[in-house]
Amino acid sequence: MDLVSEARGATKVILEERQGEVFAETASVPGLRKFYIESYGCQMNFSDSEIVASILANEGYTPTTDLQEAELVFLNTCSIREKAEETIRHRLVHFGAMKRKNPKMTIGILGCMAERLKKVLMEENQLVDLVVGPDAYRDLPKLITRTDDGERAINVLLSREETYGDISPVRLESNGISAFISIMRGCDNMCSFCVVPFTRGRERSRDVHSILAEAVDLQTRGFKEITLLGQNVDSYKWQEADQNVNFAQLLEQVAIAAPHMRIRFSTSHPKDITDDVLYTMARHDNICKYIHLPIQSGSSRILDLMNRTYDREWYMEKVRRIYEIMPECAISSDIITGFCSETEEDHADSLSIIEFGQYTMSYMFAYSERPGTQAARKYADDVPLEVKNRRLSEIIVKQRDISHELNKKDIGTICEILVEGESKKRRDQLKGRNSQNKMVVIDKTASVQPGDLVQVLITDCTSATLIGEIVNA
Ligand code: SAH
Ligand code: SF4
Ligand code: F3S
Repeated sequence: MDLVSEARGATKVILEERQGEVFAETASVPGLRKFYIESYGCQMNFSDSEIVASILANEGYTPTTDLQEAELVFLNTCSIREKAEETIRHRLVHFGAMKRKNPKMTIGILGCMAERLKKVLMEENQLVDLVVGPDAYRDLPKLITRTDDGERAINVLLSREETYGDISPVRLESNGISAFISIMRGCDNMCSFCVVPFTRGRERSRDVHSILAEAVDLQTRGFKEITLLGQNVDSYKWQEADQNVNFAQLLEQVAIAAPHMRIRFSTSHPKDITDDVLYTMARHDNICKYIHLPIQSGSSRILDLMNRTYDREWYMEKVRRIYEIMPECAISSDIITGFCSETEEDHADSLSIIEFGQYTMSYMFAYSERPGTQAARKYADDVPLEVKNRRLSEIIVKQRDISHELNKKDIGTICEILVEGESKKRRDQLKGRNSQNKMVVIDKTASVQPGDLVQVLITDCTSATLIGEIVNA
């Protein structure tokens, strides 16, 4: 080794030692240790990241969006489809490369993939320090302390009680306008394709008082919209000595407690959404007229294999009921193509249900077999990938056509939108959603700010967006 590189080597070591000292110092100064958290999957996971942020903030950590300056780096993961897990593995490779340069960095895997794969994640990747499942976030400070001592730590215990009801979430990446309130956790349905009951455990509802308090707090802080979250909000159930609160009652209580806010909720299971919920929606102007009502498949035979507990006719009746009670209500859906044994006839049933449901939009997926699920154990994943994907494309085209038709019908009507901010595509436009959850863009004007509710005349549309003009500015 020549002198120069030897000297460089020595300098590097000293620098690293200094960095070590700096980290040792920051570790003892509250507020200076920074954490970074990247979330994947459903809204529940994003909402959980805000609970994690709150737990960490209580321990003196501050959030950062700059990966480079973070000492704790978390991935809040999703297992719903194989692709979701692949994405996480790719991110881990990237984080691992960073950790090699900065050995002080702690890498933690949170969420559903942590729960599903448990210690396998640590065996697979030596750079993972922490594995923490969705019900174990209160244990994070303790687990982090163990990693500070050079250990690797894991807690993937599921709980029958944990709802994090007393934790006030730190709103991450918030626009200060919309916020999620988690009202329940877990899922007791056993849809045969789905990994969620395994990763999130048994269904449990959060204390109604803490939900109402959070809603009121958000309103006081100037938020304009809340979404009540759960895998199956309609089976919300809170029991106390003197009262039983079901989802319809909770919805009503939230609408009354936060009268200046828009109230949304997600997700509804077709078997559980009641007329009571629909009438409650109809009664309160501040409850948005929008229901996400996943069908999964239009074929009764496939629905039976999926263990969805309703058939096509039953679902159609539910849709009729919604439009009867609230003609202005929008419905959206989730659809899976290529589930085990799905024929072209079953697929045609899925295409036709999009038409029947008049969905404003759908989340559409090719079936991805998940290890351990009922479908993986009982049925062959026998629809070839090309067929799954071709059917998926057909479903997407069908949905796009229906969305476009529905949007065209809105031209010439006036609706109220809650302005969220600048449009992604054009900086001279603002975007917002109407009660039906449709995205509307308008030209910017000085008098309209994010957070405002404005009346908009719809003048044009695409399949995904309504284009409008302000009528009360
Ligand atoms: N609780 C919600 C959905 C949770 S998962 C509900 O019951 O509707 C979100 C969506 O992912 C599901 O609605 C389903 O359409 C899709 N999904 C779940 N498991 C899947 C799998 N194995 N393959 C493909 N899509 C899946
Ligand atoms: Fe999964 Fe079905 Fe539960 Fe939704 S209702 S989370 S699809 S098991
Ligand atoms: Fe994914 Fe878990 Fe949500 S598997 S969809 S993050 S509940």
